[in-house]
Amino acid sequence: MKKKWQLWIGGKWREAKTYEPLYNPHTEEEIAQIGQAEPEDAVEAVVEAHAAFQKFRHYPAHARAKILARVATIMEERGEECAMIMATEAAKSIRNAREEVSRTVQTYRFAAEAAKSNYGTQIPMDAAEGGEKRFGFTVRSPIGVVTAITPFNFPFNLVAHKVGPAIAAGNSIVLKPAEQTPLSSLFLAEVFKEAGLPDGVLNIIPGKGDVLSEVLTTHPHVKKVTFTGSVEVGHIIQQQAGFRKLTLELGSNSPFIIDEGVDIDKVIDRSVQGAFSYNGQICISIQRIYVHKSLYEQFLARFVTRTNQLVIGSPFDEKTNITAVINKKSLERIKSWIDEAVQEGAKIECGGKVEGNVLTPTVLTNVNRESKVFRFEIFGPVVCIFPFDTLDNAIKDANDSRYGLNSGIITPSLERAFYASERLETGGVIVNDIPTFRIDNMPYGGWKDSGVGREGVKYAMDEMMEQKFISFKIGDE
Ligand code: SIN
Repeated sequence: MKKKWQLWIGGKWREAKTYEPLYNPHTEEEIAQIGQAEPEDAVEAVVEAHAAFQKFRHYPAHARAKILARVATIMEERGEECAMIMATEAAKSIRNAREEVSRTVQTYRFAAEAAKSNYGTQIPMDAAEGGEKRFGFTVRSPIGVVTAITPFNFPFNLVAHKVGPAIAAGNSIVLKPAEQTPLSSLFLAEVFKEAGLPDGVLNIIPGKGDVLSEVLTTHPHVKKVTFTGSVEVGHIIQQQAGFRKLTLELGSNSPFIIDEGVDIDKVIDRSVQGAFSYNGQICISIQRIYVHKSLYEQFLARFVTRTNQLVIGSPFDEKTNITAVINKKSLERIKSWIDEAVQEGAKIECGGKVEGNVLTPTVLTNVNRESKVFRFEIFGPVVCIFPFDTLDNAIKDANDSRYGLNSGIITPSLERAFYASERLETGGVIVNDIPTFRIDNMPYGGWKDSGVGREGVKYAMDEMMEQKFISFKIGDE
């Protein structure tokens, strides 16, 4: 029998009614038994979080910062253990897993700094007639219980992007990690305890989204819901949450424009990385590449050659680039989208094969714009490459999407870079690099169906606080 993981509620491990096996996506071996929270456990977690908030809201900023900084240090010290957890439960290649650990450490450090930078503003009251002899300012207060529903693809860092800002702001949290990757979150229970977080401020309840989401979005104590995942689930959560504050980070089919005059040698490796890092299971993975027609043939040939050199293997092997897709259901869906695209006219330039639980990295050309691989987020190792003639057409094509998270453009022309940046309909435009670029203090979030609100520690914290305006009348007149 593998280790049984209970629910973390109110600073204690609690028995769950049922347990489900968790499997390594690469070997299909059982790695743990995970307690499955029921709606009544979610209610208990919210009630504990609410009770803990009554004290934690008054915790000084320096104390909150110290806890977050301590979490960062513990994670740094136990970095290899964290990377192994991700390689085991998410089949994340060990190199990508180590990169994620470093980012997570930084994210908690940014949160520690944000806790100490909670500024309000002074309002120039005498700018309005009748405002004389008054002093006005804003203060920002923690909002209360935050519920966080997180995805499998960055099981430490995307959790840190919700838990870090919530604690920095003085809130309490109920975290429901992805069903595929609960171990990374459960690991945090003891880390936060060791760092000195009071009991009940962080509660961790693995379980099924459709069983728990109603409590997590509608319980009267819940004041803010933050979710990263699919558009479809995002819509359900939005409807359930009603007027509660909401952050939704819902993915994309990110476009990348390679303009005329670009030195192809300098962009191939980075483009392949942007398309296939963690098997394309990243919201800002490159899904559509638009290459200027003068470079198209050369780019395609070199891109395919480089893709064929990617090493498929065990997530624990230092050389591995491509590993198992997160589960069979995803693998079958991605493969069926590729087959459908081929029936609709696409050509497979390389890949497209299922080998065990791996989908070989796939490059498609001549893709019909109504095909699912173009229209919807693939979330797998598949990229579509198109030629373009004018920059206006490339921008138009890039914007032909329901999503708008990050876009990227590489161009030798400053003027064309600004022209495109102004016109691309995405929350982030990454100039002279791939759209997959992200550092953890930049504002991150989407236009259109890619979501609501922004993450990137300080921005997430802003959305987890209430603002209050205070006016002081000075004197009696
Ligand atoms: C995501 O998949 O939304 C996160 C990407 C990242 O943090 O690099």
